Amino acid sequence: MSEPRTFRDEPVSFVRRSGRMSEAQERAFVELAPHYLVDVPRDVAWTSVHPEARFDPAARYGREAALVVEIGSGQGHAIVAAAAARPDTDFLAVEVFRAGLARTMLDADRAGARNLRLMEANAPEVLSSFLPEGAADEVWVFFPDPWHKKRHTKRRLVRQGFGATAGRALRDGGLLRLATDWEDYALQMREVLDAEPDLERAFDGEWAERFDGRVMTAFERKGIAKGRAIRDLVYRRVTGVRD
Ligand SMILES: C[S@@+](CC[C@H](N)C(=O)[O-])C[C@H]1O[C@@H](n2cnc3c(N)ncnc32)[C@H](O)[C@@H]1O
Repeated sequence: MSEPRTFRDEPVSFVRRSGRMSEAQERAFVELAPHYLVDVPRDVAWTSVHPEARFDPAARYGREAALVVEIGSGQGHAIVAAAAARPDTDFLAVEVFRAGLARTMLDADRAGARNLRLMEANAPEVLSSFLPEGAADEVWVFFPDPWHKKRHTKRRLVRQGFGATAGRALRDGGLLRLATDWEDYALQMREVLDAEPDLERAFDGEWAERFDGRVMTAFERKGIAKGRAIRDLVYRRVTGVRD
């Protein structure tokens, strides 16, 4: 008999923050969660996704529409603004930071954005099995944790294999959009995504233009204040045979 699994096979790209939530944030989890928060069947860890679980977007959004997935959505600034501006599109925020999820629900509710759902989960597991293959029109990764110390770079979200994971979730022709203020992470993103056969660059020149659907967040502001260049990248899922 094989040993039961107790740990993930891969290092995760986050450290769970346990900080206390405010009363309003706690209330968001009670009052707003029924609409916004998707129940995620778990595997071995709290933020894991059971490998056999499947999400049904049409059932959960109550319609068929284009789907944009943001992973590591933080406080939800980008996705709430986008959901409010584009009511015909469905949006999914994937985040492990509970206070950020609460803030996202509160802001979405205030903005009247009903076309948004949230998952408290490790994003690569959502992309690699929970979402139906080809379900997403776009996947967004804005300012992922840089893990800039040499001994930590193996924790980066966008590493070898990430392009295939995101590519699985994208429809043919769908877009993977990224942004970072860490030059060596931008270079790593471009290197691993250029090498991914299911993806092709959707920009000319060195870097993509700033995506105008991306609102300014504290992470971008901080990068600019420190004199760092902000790099955008965008890749297209090629039309082809899926595994
Ligand atoms: C530096 S913050 C950026 C937040 C937001 N995108 C922005 O630009 O303001 C990175 C976020 O990614 C989340 N994160 C990191 N790894 C994740 C993972 N594997 N799954 C889901 N969320 C993750 C962290 O909890 C954190 O909130």
